[in-house]
Amino acid sequence: MATFHIGECIRKTKQQIPLSSEEIRQLVQGVTAEPPIPDYQLAAWLMAVCFSGLNDDETAALTMAMRDSGQVMHWELDGPVADKHSTGGVGDKTTLILAPIVAACGVYMPKMSGRGLGHTGGTIDKLESIPGLSTALDPADFLALVKKAGFAVAMQTGNLAPADKKLYALRDVTETVDSIPLICASIMSKKLATGADHILLDVKVGSGAFMKNDTDAAELARRMLSAAKADGRDCTAILTDMDRPLGMCIGNAIEVREAIEVLAGDTGSELGTFCITLAAELLRMAGRGTAAQCLKMAEQAVTSGAAMERLAMMIAGQGGDARVTENPALLKFSACERTLKAPRDGWISAMLSEEIGRASVLLGAGRMTKNDAIDPGAGIRLCCKNGDAVKRGDALLTMYAEKESQLDEAEAMLRQAILLADEKPEPAPLIHSTYSTAQ
Ligand code: URA
Repeated sequence: MATFHIGECIRKTKQQIPLSSEEIRQLVQGVTAEPPIPDYQLAAWLMAVCFSGLNDDETAALTMAMRDSGQVMHWELDGPVADKHSTGGVGDKTTLILAPIVAACGVYMPKMSGRGLGHTGGTIDKLESIPGLSTALDPADFLALVKKAGFAVAMQTGNLAPADKKLYALRDVTETVDSIPLICASIMSKKLATGADHILLDVKVGSGAFMKNDTDAAELARRMLSAAKADGRDCTAILTDMDRPLGMCIGNAIEVREAIEVLAGDTGSELGTFCITLAAELLRMAGRGTAAQCLKMAEQAVTSGAAMERLAMMIAGQGGDARVTENPALLKFSACERTLKAPRDGWISAMLSEEIGRASVLLGAGRMTKNDAIDPGAGIRLCCKNGDAVKRGDALLTMYAEKESQLDEAEAMLRQAILLADEKPEPAPLIHSTYSTAQ
């Protein structure tokens, strides 16, 4: 075997000379080895990838090597195992709605999730706003709960794709996050290590997402599908709009409330329709029926109350107060609130989701630094969405925070985030396009 030189890898990638799978495997092994490849050489290679890219074979090899850098899970369950991943958005509480629906329809969903990142929220932070609920689950308890409730949500452990953990932290501080092959390998290494047979990827596109336009989002989707296919997994990628927050609430407890409203029967809302559509696609992938049958099955799981029962089972199984599913008022709202009013008549032409996400962080719903505590009751409830007509003085949104000074700061940002037009705009559809490994 040829001797491995990281400097040689940096030179080749810089000059767009493809690395062999073996070189990539050794590079990734060097990330977590003792002693590891020094950060300055890894950072130089990451920057070379940002400028010169990686081809599909290199991206797939990087994904697999990162997947194998830690534990790769195998589920021994008596039904199909599915997973869903969002590339990160604002107001995205899809997992809280989709997982209980899918579980109620006989498809297992052992879900590993993360915390909020920058202006985007995280499922773990949202769930931890439920009194008592823990996401640090012992593997045996996690499996037992998945068997009983059909799903459980645990915090991703350090043992899952540890090479990604280290590379991601380095990318975060070296301006090397926004590279499509690196994002693909980062996301897919963790997804493949989680061991699901069917994977649904929700690729967010727009101002509040990593991918700002459809061309880049479609390229990311194509690369992720290619990595999934190389690993023999069934995968669908749906490009969905992040030029507006998803649903009407942004925060933690406030998003759990909104998820409970959908599971209580509010399936006609934009959020409800979106979650039912995604759940039906996962059911179809898992072989539960045709697209039309799966749509009906997903709707019935909500109307019959079966999905809400699964949510209550999961909350109780993770030590939380399951009464929130019947009485969402048990979920906290922060002490101070303020409503923002429309300054003039007009139509809402844009809701800049990145700014809205950042405003929610200022209110306390996210973190400014890694060790900040979250205020579970902080957040924003929107009163209108893109394309709606408003009159001067109509409520645009309500903010919640613990301190008036936080409301002042967030208000200044939110005033720039909601744009009014004189003509009625045509908002983009929530689902832009769909790609699949089956195509
Ligand atoms: N989410 C990840 O896990 N990794 C990335 O690189 C981007 C988003």
